[in-house]
Amino acid sequence: MKVVNLGATNSVLNTFMAELRDKQFQQNRTLFRRNLTRIGQVMAYELSKTLSYSDTVVETPLAEKIVSTYDDHIVVGTVLRAGLAFHEGFLEVFDGADNAFVAAYREEGSADNLKIHVDYMVSPDLGGATLLLVDSMLASGGSMELAYQALLRAGKPRKLHLCVAIAAPEGVQHLKEVFPNDDVTLWTAAIDDRLNEQAYIVPGLGDAGDLSFGEKL
Ligand code: URA
Repeated sequence: MKVVNLGATNSVLNTFMAELRDKQFQQNRTLFRRNLTRIGQVMAYELSKTLSYSDTVVETPLAEKIVSTYDDHIVVGTVLRAGLAFHEGFLEVFDGADNAFVAAYREEGSADNLKIHVDYMVSPDLGGATLLLVDSMLASGGSMELAYQALLRAGKPRKLHLCVAIAAPEGVQHLKEVFPNDDVTLWTAAIDDRLNEQAYIVPGLGDAGDLSFGEKL
């Protein structure tokens, strides 16, 4: 698996990331979701440079113009619920994309004994598609792996991109083992220090689902 850390290069992306992590800014739930969406937009734009392109003829009011546009059948797949605001950013860039959703939740437990459940999946045909599997946080990598396995029931994508805002080194390592070849790319805006005992990313940002949508029971 190739790893692209967009946060390693100075850009406005890191300003969005700084706001996203900041507990003062996090008081504003709308802004928290908005920052995840903006990070998704930037990542989608960067990822778009790796798609397949061909010439299209466009008729302007004055003449014809040849423009290079992408040919990939893009499916944006998201893990509910924490991935939703991030997903929105990808969809704003790839506005014609099809969409898939997987519900995965984790039982509270220690990082080395974390149980993740997948109980709902809806997807278009993924055969030949370019699948962008997006989730805001990559902790142990378990939900991403299980979500991908669940989505495979809808067909085998031609190309797989895994997209996260913040990754833990443990999750990156796990996905490298699951996807040993370079045909899969992990896109992230940061790789943080570690997971804590509850499998939260440190320094991270807290619970992305709760910060986006409110605390769960
Ligand atoms: N999910 C979150 O919302 N936060 C983490 O730190 C890890 C997983």
